[in-house]
Amino acid sequence: MSNIKIAPSILSADLLILESQIRAVEENGADFIHVDVMDGQFVPNISFGPVIVKTLKRITDLPLDVHLMIYNADRYIDEFAEAGAEYITVHQEALTHLHSAIGSIHNKNIKAGVSLNPATPVGTLADILPELDLVLVMSVNPGFGGQKFLDLANKKIRQLDEMRKKDGLNFLIEVDGGINSETTPEVVNAGADVLVAGNAIFAAGDVGKSCRNLKKIAQDVRAKRG
Ligand code: DX5
Ligand code: ZN
Repeated sequence: MSNIKIAPSILSADLLILESQIRAVEENGADFIHVDVMDGQFVPNISFGPVIVKTLKRITDLPLDVHLMIYNADRYIDEFAEAGAEYITVHQEALTHLHSAIGSIHNKNIKAGVSLNPATPVGTLADILPELDLVLVMSVNPGFGGQKFLDLANKKIRQLDEMRKKDGLNFLIEVDGGINSETTPEVVNAGADVLVAGNAIFAAGDVGKSCRNLKKIAQDVRAKRG
């Protein structure tokens, strides 16, 4: 099993000092930088586009983990790939031709993820799991940082972990929403590999320290889990 990964979400970062905040998480155990792209249609909020991915690419070597909360994500894959994404994650609920979108992401040599909203069952991905590099379990309804963790995510993480073991697959399980020092142990015990955290890292007084603490909690739980 791979090491636990922390993916700070820049949705909660202070954009005026983005570079120093990226540096703080880089130096304190961050493994990915999570970029939340929102269109004001699939989710109520509007956030970043390819320009921010391109900008981040200039200031960090960490893999950019791009979470597309947008309709018609297939139309934007080339742009995000060229901007420097390492992972592109699309939503199951936002695409009619999900299998085809996964193929388009792989054609650009980018790792492909699919995200599930809280109400979407894991079983909906059963037939395409072998094609995926990552499954992103939403533990809040997407759109905003700082929401409360929904416990139903743990069951889904467990189911995904069982499915990948049973079929010998190696996609990463990522969890996004309400991750903090209290919720980290339960998601790691359930089988999560990548923890997205916005508020728990960037809304804290000391960004670096919060990132380091979260990673340590996650690593300790993972080590005990075996
Ligand atoms: C929510 C986004 C998250 C968000 C998480 O729709 O997908 O990545 O930044 O923020 P926290 O960790 O504050 O719940
Ligand atoms: Zn996200």
